Amino acid sequence: MEVKKLFTGEEIPVLGLGTWRIGGGMAADYSKDKIMVEIIQQAIRLGYTHIDTAEMYGGGHTEKLLGRALQHFNRQDLFLTTKVWHSNLHYQGVLNAVEGSLKRLHTDYVDMVLIHWPSTSFPLDESLQALNELVDLGKVRYLGVSNFDLELLEQAQKYSSTQLATNQVHYNLYYRKIVRDGVLDFCQKNKILLTAYTPLERGTIINNPQVKQIATSHSATPAQVALAWLIRQPNVITIPMSANITHLQQNLGALGLELNSDDLQQLDGLEMPEEALWPE
Ligand SMILES: NC(=O)c1ccc[n+]([C@@H]2O[C@H](COP(=O)([O-])OP(=O)(O)OC[C@H]3O[C@@H](n4cnc5c(N)ncnc54)[C@H](OP(=O)(O)O)[C@@H]3O)[C@@H](O)[C@H]2O)c1
Repeated sequence: MEVKKLFTGEEIPVLGLGTWRIGGGMAADYSKDKIMVEIIQQAIRLGYTHIDTAEMYGGGHTEKLLGRALQHFNRQDLFLTTKVWHSNLHYQGVLNAVEGSLKRLHTDYVDMVLIHWPSTSFPLDESLQALNELVDLGKVRYLGVSNFDLELLEQAQKYSSTQLATNQVHYNLYYRKIVRDGVLDFCQKNKILLTAYTPLERGTIINNPQVKQIATSHSATPAQVALAWLIRQPNVITIPMSANITHLQQNLGALGLELNSDDLQQLDGLEMPEEALWPE
């Protein structure tokens, strides 16, 4: 798997496995447990050793399924990221949340913990103090944030005694707010990885005619084009989600896909269709 470097020089795979909706959405879905555990294991065997999850996913059930699946692999071969939900961002809440994730994931440490969304209720310095203590205790290796705008990202970096490793944000061919707002530029200048979530706009990008046409010209798939466009950018890594082995396999093809200047010109100018618009 192709890698990029964290600020320490340690390598992280550029394609991670997203897990939102594996084991449920806001609440647990137990109906496909066996198959989901198998899919996670097959994904890891295919090379998805970087895994993104959150305490909120499936009300904790996603982490439990991962915990079950990961027992069959060497923990040191995996890079696990989880996130603390915004209602748990007070000092004790953060400590309890990460303990809960460790239990569900059946591990002594997580590689990275992110603040999932900024909180309007709890001071950022308090959340970061607790997270930094977890780093000192060896329970967390790297810290990051998610859905932070430029101002909050700068604040978070100021409050955190360890450097932030990533800002995980919504970024794809259709959705580029973080470019306009200077978040990507800040990350690139400060050795912070930008982890692009929802890289396929939940699958809608694959139906775009221009993306399809570029894919055809490379004998590639539209999803590969969308992912390749992201990971060719400095400091950008991404975490597509799929619970389909064929798609997981196909998405790895983004790694070798070289987009030429004509492709890039078209993709950079791509317009987001009305039906794909998100509120900004
Ligand atoms: N930090 C945050 O606030 C935040 C927010 C949203 C997401 N995330 C993270 O980012 C991950 C990815 O985002 P996402 O799940 O929202 O959306 P996404 O990765 O853009 O899209 C996932 C959808 O695309 C489909 N798909 C994947 N590969 C495909 C392919 N090759 N061909 C056709 N369809 C394909 C999947 O269906 P199949 O299962 O059928 O392949 C799934 O329905 C999440 O799972 C989560 O880990 C974080």
